[in-house]
Amino acid sequence: MNRRKLIQSIAVGSVGLYLPNSAVAKINQSKPAESENADRGSFSIDGNKVKFFNKSIEKPFNMLMLADTHLFRDDERGKSFQQFSRRMAKAYNQTKHFQTGEITNPEKCFQQTLKIAQDNDAEFVALIGDIFSFPSEAAIEWVSNELSNIGLPYVYTAGNHDWHYEGMEGTSQFLRSTWIKNRLHPMYQGENPMMSVREYYGVRFVAIDNSNYEILPEQYDFMIKEINTGKPIILMLHIPLYAPERSLGFGCGHPAWSEKTDKSFELERRKPWSASGHTQTTMGFHSTVFSAPNILGILAGHIHQQSLDVVNGIPQIVTNANAMGGHLQVEFHQEIKI
Ligand SMILES: [Fe+2]
Repeated sequence: MNRRKLIQSIAVGSVGLYLPNSAVAKINQSKPAESENADRGSFSIDGNKVKFFNKSIEKPFNMLMLADTHLFRDDERGKSFQQFSRRMAKAYNQTKHFQTGEITNPEKCFQQTLKIAQDNDAEFVALIGDIFSFPSEAAIEWVSNELSNIGLPYVYTAGNHDWHYEGMEGTSQFLRSTWIKNRLHPMYQGENPMMSVREYYGVRFVAIDNSNYEILPEQYDFMIKEINTGKPIILMLHIPLYAPERSLGFGCGHPAWSEKTDKSFELERRKPWSASGHTQTTMGFHSTVFSAPNILGILAGHIHQQSLDVVNGIPQIVTNANAMGGHLQVEFHQEIKI
């Protein structure tokens, strides 16, 4: 079966289950670029160093991915929001480094991690959510300054805490769009906060905001278009996609995710998850991603502990929390046939 037929069969195969009509139409009408990348290639992991090998990679390069720094810096501008920020402002104030065990803190860890990216000549840094424990103006300014000092390109996507003021009235969608607009917008450098893509040496790096556990129809359409380019893809999301036997932390597409299983909504003072579980769009996104022939891997955060799942041959790697210095150094190499 050639690539085009393969992608169409994936789409058609998903129709009866989850795929929205708009997405089906787009897949069936689109003409995937002919590509030599029918093979996913391979990968290796040593500690927090990840290598992807694929024959379409144009030259060796590397990037650095981090998530869950949980910065809590605040100043007088945050005073009137303390009723919503007080719990998370006290979280992760002092941490233990994930490699050395030394006592450290999120700001120090963030600076050290950026230095590692700089020393390794990383092409870019991916900041994949929960960089902030709440949308503090002081913390956002501090991060923007640190990133401009280091001078590396970066992509940012939100986690469930970046836009969350605990106890503030409103749905997750409303709070996310409000605090992206009012506070986090400089972090996106003009990119669409919900989804973006950048390409380095033949690899497409797709960032999708799933920080309320769900996927929007336009994000699903965006992902399908990316899959249909036929190019190798790294997908980056804050909340990992459900993988067999994983906890509800792997909550994007988890079949048990619903109001009934939401244990944290009272503590986090937010509305519970949906009573009817995930949307069909979220479930369709999940099955489409894990059926795509050209996704090299998925990088995620949220769990705060490094893990690896391989689903249908696609590795999903969760990073240790950057509050403890955690990050992934990710290298890309041309595949060599053995
Ligand atoms: Fe987190």
